[in-house]
This record gives sequence, C-alpha cells and structure tokens, in this order.
Amino acid sequence: MNKPSEIRKKFLQFFETKGHIIIPSAPLIPENDPTVLFTTAGMHPLVPFLLGQPHPAGKRLANVQKCIRTVDIEEVGDTIHNTFFEMLGNWSFGDYFKEKSINWSWEFLTTKKWLGLDPNRIAVSCFAGDEDAPKDEDAADIWRRIGIKDDKIAFLSKDDNWWGPAGQTGPCGPDTEIFYWIDEDNPAPKKFDPIDNRWVEIWNNVFMEYNKTKAGKYEPLTQKNVDTGLGFERLVMVLNQKRSIYETELFTPLNVILQKHTKKTDIKSERIILDHTRTAIFLLSEKLTPSNLEHGYVLRKVIRRAIRRMRNLEIKDYQDLFKKLTHELINGKNFDYPYIDYYPELKTNENFIVDELVKETVRFEKVLEKGIKEFNKSAEQIKQKIKDPNKQVLSGRLAFKLYDTYGFPIEITKELADEKNIKVDIKGYQKAYQQHQELSKQATEGKFKGGLADHSEITTIYHSLTHILHSVLRKTLGSHVEQKGSNITAERLRFDFSHPGKLTLAQIDEIQTQVNRIISRDLEIIKEKMALDQALAKGALGLFADKYGDKVTVYTIQNKQTGEIYSTEICGGPHIKDSQNIGSFKIIKEESSSAGIRRIKATVILNPKRSTSVRDWGSRN
Ligand code: ALA
Repeated sequence: MNKPSEIRKKFLQFFETKGHIIIPSAPLIPENDPTVLFTTAGMHPLVPFLLGQPHPAGKRLANVQKCIRTVDIEEVGDTIHNTFFEMLGNWSFGDYFKEKSINWSWEFLTTKKWLGLDPNRIAVSCFAGDEDAPKDEDAADIWRRIGIKDDKIAFLSKDDNWWGPAGQTGPCGPDTEIFYWIDEDNPAPKKFDPIDNRWVEIWNNVFMEYNKTKAGKYEPLTQKNVDTGLGFERLVMVLNQKRSIYETELFTPLNVILQKHTKKTDIKSERIILDHTRTAIFLLSEKLTPSNLEHGYVLRKVIRRAIRRMRNLEIKDYQDLFKKLTHELINGKNFDYPYIDYYPELKTNENFIVDELVKETVRFEKVLEKGIKEFNKSAEQIKQKIKDPNKQVLSGRLAFKLYDTYGFPIEITKELADEKNIKVDIKGYQKAYQQHQELSKQATEGKFKGGLADHSEITTIYHSLTHILHSVLRKTLGSHVEQKGSNITAERLRFDFSHPGKLTLAQIDEIQTQVNRIISRDLEIIKEKMALDQALAKGALGLFADKYGDKVTVYTIQNKQTGEIYSTEICGGPHIKDSQNIGSFKIIKEESSSAGIRRIKATVILNPKRSTSVRDWGSRN
C-alpha cells in the first residue's frame, strides 16, 4: 500500500530534484481575483508569472494545491469526480518546455525509484489542431521517443486537449493528458479509446504559450510556460488499485463513520455525502459562511445537498454525522493523511467549522420536510395532469418557490425531479430568480418607476393588503376568523387572527393565491363616512369600532371594472386609493401567537410597473 502522505512527499521531492522550489497552497477563495469564485487549479494564483512577471522563487515551482471545481458537481457520485480535491502541480515560467515536462512526468510515474506504475497501462492524448493553434506533433513525437505506440496516442480537439484560460481571458494552451488503465481484470487494450472510462485521466501537462484576449483571440505569449496538474485522489486510487477515489485512504476513515450511521446502501448518496462534507469543511476552514450569494451559496449548496442525501440513507441526525466526519477529518487517528499538517486552518477553525455546519443544518431542517412534501405534491399533480412523460415538467415558478421558500438549491430540485423522471424548467427558474433579485434590489433601494418612492407608500400598501388578507382568511378558513392584532413595517405585515389550529400548506397556498389574484386586478378603494349601525349593516368588519365613535370610516376594496367587493372594513386608514398589479404577495411565516390565535407574516415584492395612488397620506381620518 502506498500511503497518501508518502505519495505526496514523493511528488514534491521528485520536482525538488529537478530544481523546483516548493510553494505553499493558495487559499480556495482567491485573494484579489474577482474573475473566479474559487481556485480551480494550481495555476490560478500564478497567472501574473505565466504572463511574464518574474516570480521571486524563480522559474521552476511545484506544489500541492487545494482546489474546488463545481462544474463537476453533477458528476460527483461516480468513481472519479470530486468537488474538492488536491492537485499536484509543477510549473515552468519560460524555462523548460514540452520535452522536459513530458519526460519528467513519465519518469515520475513509471520508474521504480518513484511510483513504478505499469508503462503498458499508460495512454496519452495530444491536441489535434485548429484555426487557433497547430496540431501538437511535437508532444506526440516526444511520447513516441519515450516508446508510446501510435495506437496509444489520441489527437483530440480543443474541448479535450486545451486548457485555460481560468477566467475569460489569460494564459492557455494545448495540453497532453496522461491516462491510466484501471481495470484490474482485463489487460489494457492495444488501442487507446478515450471514451472507455476504464482509461482514467490522471495528469494534464499544459503548454501555455497563448494569451486569450477579450476579443477571443489567441496571441502568443512572450514566454513559453508549462503548467501541469496531477489529480491527487485519482493518483492514490490507481497506485493502490482501487476502483474509486472513495475507496482510497483519503475517504475510507470517513466512510467507516458514515456506515455506522446507516443501514441502507446507496453508493451515489454515500459518495455525495463524503465529497460534499469534505468540501464544506475546507470552505469553512477559510471562514466562509453559508449564504445566498456567490461563494456562500456554493457552501450552502454542498451542505444542503449532503443533508438531502443523508435522508436517502435514512440518517436522521445530520448534525451528529457532520460533527463526527469533521472530527475524523481533522483529528482522526485512522487517517494516514494528516490534513491538518498541510492545512493548519482546519485545526485553527475547527470550532467555527462545526458551529456553522450545525447552524446551517438547523436552518435547512426547518424547511426540508415541508419542501419535500411540496415537491412531491407538485410532482404528483404533474403526473396526473400530463400523461406524456416527455412533457412532464416542473415549472420555473415552482422550482423558484422551492428555492425561495424552502431553501432548495436548484440542483436538489433537479435531483428530486430526476428521481421521478420529471424535467425542470431551468430557464424559467433562472428568469424567476433574476426577477426576484431585481425586484428585491429595487425595493431596498426604493427605485420605483412613477411611484412615491418612500416607505410610507409601502406601509400604506401593506395596510390595504391586510384588509384583503383578512377577508381572504375568512373566506378560506371560515367566519370564525377575526382580526386580533396587526403590525406593519415597510418590510412586512404581521396579522394575528382567531383560528383553532395550524394552517395546512394547502391553505397557506390557497390564501396566498387568492390575495395575489385580487391584488393583480384593477382595484379601487372607496372611503365613506357613515353611522356605525349603517356600517355594520353593510357587513363591514368593525372589530375596533368602539375606537371611532358614532361616525365611522368604512373602506371598501372593490374591482374597478366589475364592482366585485373584496373587503369592507371600518378603519382609520391610511389606504391606497386605487391600484393595478401591486406585485407579488407572499406568506413567509405562519405560527401560533397565543392559544387559539395564529400569526401570519407576509411580504410583498412590489411590481415596479404597478400603478398605485395613495389616499389619506399620513392622515388617520
Ligand atoms: N491547469 C491544468 C489543469 O487544471 C493543469 O488541468
């Protein structure tokens, strides 16, 4: 058995003997580089030096870089993909080029002194050439001289044999990739077929001689560089003849813990839990916190996806499992790969890592059950309504609701849908998401077209909405519903009312739909003064009637076109006068306020194109 720690050491030693200086791993969250979210390769922090700036340590460097790649997140669960992984890399800044790079890779992989891998199981690919750069016969000739037969050399296009730039622009070039045959039961075929997944790519040697410009042109760089990346997890896997990276010593101690928490077997879920938890631990070790934005969202996504997979394995105590996995990765005696020696931030921030995992778990637990129920309900409805399986699609609106209300990253919704053979309207989801972002931004910035852009208008709208909500509650739940209190800020309304039990999700949905139906209409709000008796005779709700004396003000909210009355209430105002398309009303919480009293909190995302005018500005009468 080759210990992972030994393999790592050998790599660095090898390149030291070839005159390389070993540099530390850069952080996962790049410093001063807004072009990428995460460090996805060892070359990221080295871009200025690939472009020509002299590196203080010289022209030959090597390191082990921690990386995050989320483009592969859908692949995680197979035998060879991770979201977090380590990359062994060596670089030449205008020093050695293809000849040395290829020969050194070969020497390190195959000689007994170093890794001693079987040369007969190695195949390579080279760049086939296109309008931007010629076919890489130089690289192929070097391989031929080493002894690789033509059958084991594949020429592939830019999609496969070109690397970079890491962002939109920057250094890039053709590469040559080294594959290893992993099937222990069958000898390596004579001919290399890159499609056969028993050939696993382990090392990528990039010959960075171009700079991609903003205009999409490939200009020759002033210096010819080498940038290589050898996937550590995969290397450990092939050296120790494992069938997947999860069977290597980098994961087995974690897997032992996972197995103690479940009696079920679901390899894909197990792998996703192991991979995503490791990714979350490393991101948290850099003091990132889960959020709905950029880096924080990726962190949230991996934690929540791991939790969702724990459910598949019937694991109930997510927190306990996260705690144990974290403890094992950081302190585990069974690991012969001492992560904390290489990444001391894991130990320094151990408490933070555990606290944040627990907090995010609590947040997700609150909505997870409900979200899954909501999803299942919708999925059933789709299956019942639409018989053609090709047309069974979950709408973007529902996918967005699952995100917005239940915190389901779209990938979770997609996975749930996949399991039921339903498609998801991803474009529709993205549209709903963008609209929401834009509206919330406008709401916080008070940027509305044509309206009165201050909080008083919003507060007034909320007040009128409370009346609509009140009457919708009575229609939906029954006339036992009576207002018991109300509190309005510019961000939300809070409405207390009498009702014996918790509202069902279906009821909440119905109430929300009814309010939205009403507020999308062309409304007018009529204000009348009348005697209290008269008002009550009219059916006005008058719960605070005694406050206003004999003469009361009655507000009637009705459809301007049809005259349909939505609400009649005795009230002191202020209210809007008329409106069209106010926006989107959303119940954010339904809870108990006290015995027999329920409390609803709701918001409205204002439609910037609405027309609203306000009556009774600031006056109570
Ligand atoms: N930058 C190259 C890669 O990530 C080595 O594959």
